[in-house]
Amino acid sequence: MSTPKIAIIISSTRDARFGEKPARYLLEAAQKRSDVSFEIVDLRDFSLPFFNEVASNLWAPTQDPAGQKWQRKIAEFDGFVFVVAEYNHSLTAAMKNAMDFAYPEWNKKAAAFFGYGSVGGARAVEHLRMICVEVQLHPTRNAVHIGGSDFFGVWQQGKAIEDIPNLSNSVTQMLDELVWWTSALKEARTK
Ligand SMILES: Cc1cc2nc3c(=O)[nH]c(=O)nc-3n(C[C@H](O)[C@H](O)[C@H](O)COP(=O)(O)O)c2cc1C
Repeated sequence: MSTPKIAIIISSTRDARFGEKPARYLLEAAQKRSDVSFEIVDLRDFSLPFFNEVASNLWAPTQDPAGQKWQRKIAEFDGFVFVVAEYNHSLTAAMKNAMDFAYPEWNKKAAAFFGYGSVGGARAVEHLRMICVEVQLHPTRNAVHIGGSDFFGVWQQGKAIEDIPNLSNSVTQMLDELVWWTSALKEARTK
């Protein structure tokens, strides 16, 4: 079996976004592992329009070239970490739109979460977990959350993610579970 590939998806696209910081922190931590490969996937690079197809691509091929490019990218991966911004207690509209723009490409793979915000993006992560179930992405139990004073410290007070106590332990637990499911599901899909 080839080495499983995991995408770290940045879910916010606005110019002043914070999302890149946790994504880069996670990539650096993840690249210490040799059992899987990781790559950042940035929604900004796809310029997806609002979904305007006749149906989900489960039922009808997507016509929009940006949507097709997104589907090809998602198809490359065996697992995903969503770096989750919380907008009004949910995931970003850009991320939900991107979820809707693929279907078979998500199926029977694994997904984990790295949320941030006042309560660590927990409400957005829970919404995204439910969406994952519908697109047949297996959501992990373990997730990473940067919340409360840790989040405000990094967001507005110049502190570093690396200095948040115990965060690296959460990252290890999340990645251990994600890699287990990613490998198990990849093997099962191959069979
Ligand atoms: C439209 C909007 C809605 C927001 N709603 C919430 C919220 O419900 N809960 C929360 O903890 N933070 C909320 N925030 C603050 C975000 O956590 C913070 O701006 C964070 O940096 C957003 O991620 P991003 O910078 O990667 O876009 C909101 C921010 C925006 C722009």
